[in-house]
Amino acid sequence: MMELAIIGGSGLTSLKCLEVTRREVVYTPYGEPSGPLTYGTLCGKEVVFLPRHGYGHTIPPHMINYRANLQALKQIGVKKVIAVAAVGGIRADLVPGSIVIPDQIVDYTWARAHTFFEGGDTPVTHIDFTHPYSAELRALLLKGCANAGLACSSQATYGATQGPRLETAAEINRMERDGCGIVGMTGMPEAALAAELGLAYATCAVVANMAAGRGAETISMVEIEYNLKQAMENVRTLLEHVIPLI
Ligand code: HPA
Repeated sequence: MMELAIIGGSGLTSLKCLEVTRREVVYTPYGEPSGPLTYGTLCGKEVVFLPRHGYGHTIPPHMINYRANLQALKQIGVKKVIAVAAVGGIRADLVPGSIVIPDQIVDYTWARAHTFFEGGDTPVTHIDFTHPYSAELRALLLKGCANAGLACSSQATYGATQGPRLETAAEINRMERDGCGIVGMTGMPEAALAAELGLAYATCAVVANMAAGRGAETISMVEIEYNLKQAMENVRTLLEHVIPLI
């Protein structure tokens, strides 16, 4: 049974260290996921990999079929999801290259299909979302960082924005007042949908740039790409140290 899934974000559309065994196109009642699921072994453990933005990095954050992605993983028996995500750093200590295991979320996204519970024949359903991430998976990610000798931040609120544009400086100021330490475009509704399906879910965020108004006068996409390329090497190392713990 394939218990562990890794959802790759910007900069992680493939896992070099994954020994691929097969790919599978999965259909769901919500449509097709971002691509076929890639099955393989990583450090001797079976995992399934799905790049959130598609294998060619063509699906923008607001067009991702988050429901199909999570439902597809649920359908094949996945129980745990590690989500990798590129983010901007709002807090001064979260500089490009930093690895962050966020512990809270503020959702600023809109007009996304964000729930499996849409009425119809099923009774109105609410889920508890006090702690949006799995404590167990977060602990394993933090232990993996320690074992790999990688510095990481274990406490930060992830602010999820709509994108695909980056934020204004004023929006980042507001997010800081709201308590957000990092900003990304894909953390929601992904985390909530995982919770609705009863999947253990945690995020490994990688800071690609200082958020708007926090570093350079403007944000360079070339720089984001360069930083991500460097930082994703650390994410690969981290995954190699986390997977044996799971
Ligand atoms: N804002 C939102 N999402 C991001 C950023 C950012 O600055 N950097 C990488 N993903």
